[in-house]
Amino acid sequence: MTHFTMLGDSWAQSVDVQEAKTPSQMEFSKREITQLLSRLNQTGDVNGNVVPIKNTTGALTKDGEVVDPAEQSLLNKLIRHTLVRNRNQVEVLQRDPTSPLYSVKTFEELRLKPELLKGVYNMGFNRPSRIQENALPMMLAQPPQNLIAQSQSGTGKTAAFSLAMLSHVDPAKKWTQCLCIAPTYELALQIGQVIEQMGKFYTDVKLAYAIRGNRLGRGMKLEQQIVIGTPGTVLDWCTKFKNIDPKNITLFVLDEADVMIATQGHRDQSIRIQRQLSKDCQMLLFSATFEDSVWKFAEQVVPDPNIIKLKREEETLDTIKQFYVVCQQEEDKFKALCNLYGCLTIAQAMIFCQTRRMASWLATQMTKEGHQVALLSGEMTVEQRAAVIDRFRNGKEKVLVTTNVCSRGIDVEQVSLVVNFDLPVDMAGDADNETYLHRIGRTGRFGRRGFAVNMIDSERSMDVIQQIQMHFNRKITKLDTSNLEEMERLLC
Ligand SMILES: Nc1ncnc2c1ncn2[C@@H]1O[C@H](COP(=O)(O)OP(=O)(O)OP(=O)(O)O)[C@@H](O)[C@H]1O
Ligand SMILES: [Mg+2]
Repeated sequence: MTHFTMLGDSWAQSVDVQEAKTPSQMEFSKREITQLLSRLNQTGDVNGNVVPIKNTTGALTKDGEVVDPAEQSLLNKLIRHTLVRNRNQVEVLQRDPTSPLYSVKTFEELRLKPELLKGVYNMGFNRPSRIQENALPMMLAQPPQNLIAQSQSGTGKTAAFSLAMLSHVDPAKKWTQCLCIAPTYELALQIGQVIEQMGKFYTDVKLAYAIRGNRLGRGMKLEQQIVIGTPGTVLDWCTKFKNIDPKNITLFVLDEADVMIATQGHRDQSIRIQRQLSKDCQMLLFSATFEDSVWKFAEQVVPDPNIIKLKREEETLDTIKQFYVVCQQEEDKFKALCNLYGCLTIAQAMIFCQTRRMASWLATQMTKEGHQVALLSGEMTVEQRAAVIDRFRNGKEKVLVTTNVCSRGIDVEQVSLVVNFDLPVDMAGDADNETYLHRIGRTGRFGRRGFAVNMIDSERSMDVIQQIQMHFNRKITKLDTSNLEEMERLLC
């Protein structure tokens, strides 16, 4: 497969994405993304709107850091190398409950074109993922059916619709038949890479990127059968420049709906694109979460949908021993941490601080003590963060000091100790139970044993730890780190 040639004079031009890439060349794409992100940080959003940096409605932490959903999603993809397996049941709501419900256990059952089957196996996929078992037959059904699908990050949604798009197109027709929109340039690029890899042996199908900087002459019709882009540029190509005839689109995909609606304007643009399409165009929408706002948006974009949901595997505190240590001030907390290290054989530890300042102070102190420490904080680019997490996961550093911004989505199996150097609290200073669970919780299936140690440095934080204890109904035991004997008894 080949990319559409980059045109125009904007920053996007400097990135050469004309060559099709094989899986072994994935590193290159990471470099591309770094370049893009560093430019993005200067110019505003990916659709070229001049806006303050991070204009999304991402959650503001106490430290004033914004958790940008698009960045978080990209980070997840950069650090994840394999499918996230899920044992939960898939929930399927059919538009027509009387029609038979198909699910497949093998890719062969889908009767794919041999070129595509080869592409799928070449990516190392042996069998469909949980969500793919149900979603693929539905997406490939005749007559076409609309679908809204939700499952947690990493469970195979993008791979599923990439396969659907590739099977859908007629390579003999030299016009755009499949349109896919994603929230940002980088996420669009990620999808494109999946389609390229999967379509590696299906050489007649071509792909174009409708992203800022890629400009076509007015009225010049695209010949590529698949177009992936961000809402603003896709809308321009459909309406203003008429490079795509929306009435010729027979499959429309909206990926990352939850991230999409976090950016101002994307919701409206997506709906405007959808309205250009013909009534019998098949519509698919994917999301990692399903809050009310996502659900409302999904219903607007996808009429008469089938719905597939896969519940997230619940995190549990069952295999984690929880402790708290009473300290007077920051230095004492640090001392307690050192005592802990003296007593425990710790494979790897993650230490959470509330602010960047504290994280960087602690990282410096620990390095002075001779620990191999990695620091992860919000001012780093997504690419830098991904690199730090990769190094930590590969054991290059034994301690990862971080702020809240980076805690989601990181799952490092060999972490045996989690330290809340500062307890997770919300803006009002009350216990943030959800964050606590994310930091120390482990999905039960791994059954990993571990320790969580909470540092208490005020009456207020004592109050918070009690709130957490009550919320989860799990005992958090007091630990005196100056009493070696007691520590050995409790921890070993
Ligand atoms: N059937 C499969 N077998 C093995 N690996 C798979 C399969 N399907 C997808 N994967 C791999 O699993 C990872 C996650 O897949 P994918 O990106 O499609 O998930 P997603 O649900 O779209 O995640 P997100 O919500 O983060 O976008 C990718 O590395 C992908 O190559
Ligand atoms: Mg995806």
